[in-house]
Amino acid sequence: MSSPDAVLAARAVRGGVGFLSKGFAELLDMEDPLRDFRARFDYPKKGALPNVEVQGDEAAEECLYFSSLNLGLKPKEADSAVQTQLEKWGHLGVATYGAEPLPIHVCDSFGTEMMGRLVGADPRSVALMNGLTVNLHLLFISFYQPTPQRYKILTEAAAFCSDMYAFRSQAEMRGYDPNDAVIEVSPREGEYTLRTEDIIKVIEEQGDTMAVVCMSGVQYYTGQKFDMQAITRAAQAAGALVGWDLAHAVGNVDLQLDEWGVDFAFWCSNKYLCSGPGAIGGAYVNGRHHGRRAAHLKGWWSNRDSTRVEMRAECDTAEGAGAFRITTPSPILVAMACVSLQILDEAGMQRMVEKQFLLTGFLEALLKRHLGGSGQEAALRIITPEDPAQRGCQLSILFPAGAVKVHARLQELGVVCDLRAPRVLRVAPSPLYNSFIEVFTFVRVLVEVMKETH
Ligand SMILES: Cc1ncc(COP(=O)(O)O)c(C=O)c1O
Repeated sequence: MSSPDAVLAARAVRGGVGFLSKGFAELLDMEDPLRDFRARFDYPKKGALPNVEVQGDEAAEECLYFSSLNLGLKPKEADSAVQTQLEKWGHLGVATYGAEPLPIHVCDSFGTEMMGRLVGADPRSVALMNGLTVNLHLLFISFYQPTPQRYKILTEAAAFCSDMYAFRSQAEMRGYDPNDAVIEVSPREGEYTLRTEDIIKVIEEQGDTMAVVCMSGVQYYTGQKFDMQAITRAAQAAGALVGWDLAHAVGNVDLQLDEWGVDFAFWCSNKYLCSGPGAIGGAYVNGRHHGRRAAHLKGWWSNRDSTRVEMRAECDTAEGAGAFRITTPSPILVAMACVSLQILDEAGMQRMVEKQFLLTGFLEALLKRHLGGSGQEAALRIITPEDPAQRGCQLSILFPAGAVKVHARLQELGVVCDLRAPRVLRVAPSPLYNSFIEVFTFVRVLVEVMKETH
C-alpha cells in the first residue's frame, strides 16, 4: 500500500497545487464524497467554549474540533429523536411502552443491524446495552472461567484504567492475586507502541496459563491499532478466549469480528459513534458461543424480545448477544444511538476509512513538513504508528518541551484537542465531519502557537 504522503503528493502534482497551500486542502475537500455529512452535526462555536480568548465575529465561528476520541459531535437529528420519545411518554403515559417509534419493550433491537454492519458481525451477535465497563464485566463473568492451571488475563501495559481495574477485580473476585493473574505486554525500551511479534511471543510463552486475552482494538493513548486478527488467532491457538475493547476502534477502523473469529467484544458509543455522553454501549458475542454459555448473569431483558412481557418463571433466553442484556434500556439513549448509527450507515465504513487514510495522512504530512525537523531539533514527534494499517483517525503528538502550554494556547484560540499531560496531545480528525481545510488551519495555528510558546 502506498503511504498517504505519497498519494497526497501525487494528487497535489496532478492538481498543479503546492502540497502546503490552502488551495490543496480546498481541492481535497471538493473531492471528498463525505463532505455533506458535516452539515448534519452541531459544531460548538468558539465563543461558547471554556478558556477561549477570541472575541467579536470570531467568537461566533465554529471551533476546530478534533476530540472525537473523547466525545463525538451531536447529530442535529438527535434533538427531534429525543423529543419524540419525551412527547410519546407525555402523551401516552404507560402506553408509550408499545408505541412507535422505538416501542420500549424491544427498542434496543432496532440498532443491531446497523451496529452489526459497523463491526462486521451478524446482528444476532451484537447487543446495545449498558456502558463499556459494565459490558466488560458481564462478558468476563461468562468468558473468564479460571482454573488453577489456566487463570491469567493478558492485556497491554497502559490499558485504559477502567479496563485494568475491571481485569484486576475479576481476578480478585475469583480468588486470584491480580499481580500474578493480570499480565501486561509492554513496548520495547525507548518505544511507545507494541510490536505484534512481541505480543504473540508473550502469548506463546504464557501458553496454557492464559484464560483470556483482552486488549484494546485501538490503544487510547498512542492511537495504535492492533492486528486484531493475528492476535486473536495466536491467543486461540494457545487455548485462550479473546475479547476486544473497541472503545476507540468502533466507527473509526474497519472491524470484521465474525471473520476474525473474535470470541467477544465490548465498546462505548460516545466517541466515533457520536451517540452522546453516557451513551448506550455495545457487546459482541461470536455465533459459536450463542446459547452455549450457560454461566452468565440474567435479568428480564435477557428474554427474547417476543416473550419478554410474558414474564415467565423461567427466562426464555434470547438467542445471541441479546442473552447478555439484563435491564431495561433507556429509549432516549437508544434513540440517540439509532440517529448516529443511521448517519454512519449512510456514510459507510468503507468510505470513512478511505477518507481517514487521507485526512490523518494530511495531518501527519503537514505536521512533519512544518514542525518535524530531524532528531533533536524536532518540535514534535508523532508516536502513533506511521503505518496506516496500524492506526485510525488519531495522531498522538509528543512535544519534547511539554504540551501543557501548547494545549492551553490552542484552547484559547478555539481549537479542541486532548491533552495527556505533560507531553502528549491527541488529535483525531473524524472523516464524518472534519474537513481538510480544518486540518490545514489546525497546523497553521499550531505553528504560530509553537513560535509563541517556545
Ligand atoms: C479504552 C476505554 N476503555 C474503557 C472506557 C470506559 O468507558 P465507560 O465509562 O463507558 O465504562 C473508556 C472511556 O473512555 C475507554 O476509552
